[in-house]
Amino acid sequence: MSKPKIAIVVGSTRAARFADVPTAWIAKIAKAHADIDVDVVDLRDFPLPFFDEVASSAWVPSTNEVALRWQKKVAEYDGFIFTAAEYNHAPTAVLKNAFDYAANEWNKKPAGFVGYGSVGGARAVEQLRMIAVELQMAPVKSAVHIAWGDFLAVRQVEKKLDEIEHLNQAATALINDVVWWAKALKTARKADAIDEEIKAA
Ligand SMILES: Cc1cc2nc3c(=O)[nH]c(=O)nc-3n(C[C@H](O)[C@H](O)[C@H](O)COP(=O)(O)O)c2cc1C
Repeated sequence: MSKPKIAIVVGSTRAARFADVPTAWIAKIAKAHADIDVDVVDLRDFPLPFFDEVASSAWVPSTNEVALRWQKKVAEYDGFIFTAAEYNHAPTAVLKNAFDYAANEWNKKPAGFVGYGSVGGARAVEQLRMIAVELQMAPVKSAVHIAWGDFLAVRQVEKKLDEIEHLNQAATALINDVVWWAKALKTARKADAIDEEIKAA
């Protein structure tokens, strides 16, 4: 079986976002893992309107062209790592909207999170884990939380993320979890597809 494909999804889109810094850092570590292929997927490249379809695409196909392109993109991947900014103790609206705009394409795939902010994005990450479960994803245990002291030091360019050892260790644990689940679930999805083919024959 080919290597699992993992998307690092950039979960905030504002012009002044910090997200590019953790994205570049986690992407570099993930790309060094021999067992996966890794892409950065930027929500800025998928300017979805606020959800405006007649139903979830699980039930009724979407009509919006960006939505269709987004669903096709999500379907390409076997697992996801999301950067998770925290806005008012919650995930960014743009990331929640992007979750809502796909459905089956998320199913039976792992989700990991790189949170940042005063408490390392922990409140946003916990909410994202619940959203992921509803989308039949497997949110992994390990996560990166870039908390206040480190977040400020990196934002003020006093430090780089790759100089902070406990964050490098957390990143490795997160990626290892995502890789394990991506392999296991890719195998399981393939077995399901073979069963379906046999039943249809
Ligand atoms: C509307 C808004 C609400 C915020 N609320 C929180 C919050 O609840 N907790 C937190 O840790 N940081 C909060 N922040 C600060 C963000 O952590 C910080 O701006 C971070 O850089 C946001 O990620 P981004 O730059 O990738 O958009 C908030 C920022 C904004 C713009």
